[in-house]
Amino acid sequence: MKLTDHSVADSPDPVRDAAIAGLLDACFGGMHGGRTFFKQVPHRRVLAWSRGGIVGHVGMDLRAMRVSDSTMHVLGIVDLCVAPTARRQGIGAALLQAAEERAEGQSFALSMADDPRLYRRAGYSRIHAADVTFLAIDELRCHSVVRRDLSEIFMAKRLAGGAWPDGPIDLLGHLF
Ligand SMILES: CC(C)(COP(=O)(O)OP(=O)(O)OC[C@H]1O[C@@H](n2cnc3c(N)ncnc32)[C@H](O)[C@@H]1OP(=O)(O)O)[C@@H](O)C(=O)NCCC(=O)NCCS
Repeated sequence: MKLTDHSVADSPDPVRDAAIAGLLDACFGGMHGGRTFFKQVPHRRVLAWSRGGIVGHVGMDLRAMRVSDSTMHVLGIVDLCVAPTARRQGIGAALLQAAEERAEGQSFALSMADDPRLYRRAGYSRIHAADVTFLAIDELRCHSVVRRDLSEIFMAKRLAGGAWPDGPIDLLGHLF
């Protein structure tokens, strides 16, 4: 298995993009609608390759956000996925670790995860996120700024610096 790095500033590669879009649709039940992203193009991606094909993907959203009065620089984990035929071989965990290692200068990695298993094993824990403000995007349209209790999905791992501060969270953008 080989990992490669990609940035939003790279030259377009239609063949690679079609493979990423195909993987996302296969892993997320078609909700990406044939795109290489769901809500917004991630700043960076790490791809996992096996026998010349893409078998895994993680997007990296690098963001400044607010927690109470603090400005935090975070890595948002986006669209972590592995092809169904390549699962349970450690590729998902390797992609998550690769994203964290490439997030120099970010103090936390964040993921919105219904299923916490992979993240817990990698050192993430649930955050009390009772008051989160974010930009709601649906079907490629911003429709409102909303406040929600996301404590059931909000997971974080400290990469550098101090502990997660208490208080309301403003994502200064969409939900990862
Ligand atoms: C989640 C996913 C990326 C894991 O990839 P993987 O290469 O199989 O991961 P690893 O081999 O490193 O680890 C496997 C473990 O991940 C955990 N896991 C499985 N599905 C998971 C999920 N949807 N979310 C979180 N953890 C999951 C399980 O504990 C599994 O081990 P187990 O089956 O022995 O209990 C892959 O199952 C996938 O693409 N799922 C569909 C897309 C998805 O739900 N992505 C997560 C978005 S938050």
